[in-house]
Formats: sequence, structure tokens, C-alpha cells
Amino acid sequence: MDPEGALSPDVVQARSVLAAARRIAVLSGAGISAESGVPTFRDAGGLWEGRSPESLATPGAFAREPAEVWRFYRRRIEALAGVAPNAGHRALAELERRCERFWLLTQNVDGLHATAGSRNVVELHGTLSTLRCVHCGRRSSARETLAGLPDDRLPTCGACGGLLRPDVVWYGELLPDHALAVAAEAISRCQVMLVVGTSGVVQPAASFAASARAAGARIVEVNPERTPISPLARPSLRGTAATLLPLLVGSGAPAAEP
Ligand code: OAD
Repeated sequence: MDPEGALSPDVVQARSVLAAARRIAVLSGAGISAESGVPTFRDAGGLWEGRSPESLATPGAFAREPAEVWRFYRRRIEALAGVAPNAGHRALAELERRCERFWLLTQNVDGLHATAGSRNVVELHGTLSTLRCVHCGRRSSARETLAGLPDDRLPTCGACGGLLRPDVVWYGELLPDHALAVAAEAISRCQVMLVVGTSGVVQPAASFAASARAAGARIVEVNPERTPISPLARPSLRGTAATLLPLLVGSGAPAAEP
């Protein structure tokens, strides 16, 4: 029996594009972790519902209302304790194992790509696994620092007593130099950029696909919804990460294709 017989032509095309590529970059966003139970930002019920992202995830908001910003981040950090990678994360780890060069550029701060076994992961927006002192810059484990800390207390640095903040990139802040350097390398060298689960509206990541395409890469997209990146992609697949990525990578039995 033809193993590809039950797949749509677009899925078959995406599979062969990925199978033929030796250098692949992936750009992932909140959607890849949705099926692990981590809410996205902009879908219904998303993290920012009721408040705009800019109102909490900024240095200005942290200076004005640190308790409110911390309440929001504490909830997110504590919620991560119970989540695990899904079939989409695992398929990307498998894809990396068979590539000559592979870059996983993620906007996510949940650490699930690394837990799934991905190795060359660049966390463009930082991580929720560590906290950073606003005075001396010392980093500490988020879970250990927050464990047992009363809800009405703000975490402080064990070295200098300064206020700790989540080790993430906020609106108005620059992405880490290292992350931008690796992204530039991926954009200029990849043959295929696979874009998964991002609404494609937050810069600079939102421009990566256009830059990679301008440099000669083929763009493939996986997202249940159309995005501003969809017109660049051949193909742009409508479906979820945990359903489609295993089909594209050929890494185990997925749920039925939508
Ligand atoms: P968004 O919440 O903006 O978009 C999530 C995307 O995932 C949408 O396009 C959904 O259609 C798609 N999606 C939902 N469920 C999916 C699934 N099961 N499989 C695949 N895709 C699915 O998240 P991001 O684009 O990651 O930045 O947001 C970018 C940045 O905006 C975040 O990193 C964060 C936020 O503000 C900072 O905090 C700096």
C-alpha cells in the first residue's frame, strides 16, 4: 500500500520538500505548545485576553506595577510545571536528527523544544526557566526561587537583594545578540524554513520567513489559521502542529489528518 495514499497533495508536497532539504530552519510560536496545554497569546482564551500584551510585558509596566506583572508571570511559570512536549515538538526533534544543519528559532519561553530533545534551539524571547536580577544581572532558577515565596512577596536576588524579573524579552527590548546572530545564519543558510504555530505579527521574528525566502529558501507553514506568512509559503498547511508535523516528518502515527 502507498504510505502517502491517504495524505492530501499539500502534505505530500511538504513532506518531500522537507525530505529533500539538508539545511532546515524552523520558526515556532505559541501554537506548537497549544496541544501541550499552554495557552497561546492571541487565540480566544489566550494569555493576553483582557489586557494587551504591551500593557504587561514591558519594562515600563514592570517599573510601574511589578506586583501585577509578577502575578501574571508567576501564574505562567507555575503552570509550566505540569506540561509536557507533544507530538509536534517530538517530530521537530526527529527532523533535526536527520538534517545536516538545523536551527530551531522559537518565540516560546516554555522550554518544551529542549525537553522534547531538540538541540540547536534559539530562544528568541528568552525563557521562563530562569529569573534575572535587574541590578546585578545574576540569574537564578525560576522554580526554586518562587517555591515557597508568599504570593504577595516579590522575588529578590540572593546576591545583591535587587528585584528579580522574568528572563524574557519584553516589548521595547532588544533580542539577545546571540539569538539574532544565529537567526541571521539560519535565514541566510537554510534551504527550507518551516514556520509553525505563530501569528506572524511580532517583530523581528515576523520577518524571518520573508528574509529567508528572499535569500532563496522555500517556506512551509503549519497553522490552523491563515497568517501574514501564508502567502509566502508553498505549501501553507491548515492543521495543528501535533497532527501535521509527525506526518511531515514521518515520525510515528499522528492523529487523523484534518
Ligand atoms: P500567537 O498567540 O500570536 O499566535 C499563535 C498562533 O498559533 C496562531 O496563528 C494560531 O492560529 C496558531 N495555533 C493555535 N493552535 C495551534 C496548534 N495546535 N498548532 C499549530 N498552530 C496553532 O503566538 P506567537 O505568534 O508565538 O512575545 O506570538 C508571538 C509573540 O507575541 C510571543 O512570543 C510573545 C507575544 O507577545 C513576547 O512576549 C515578547
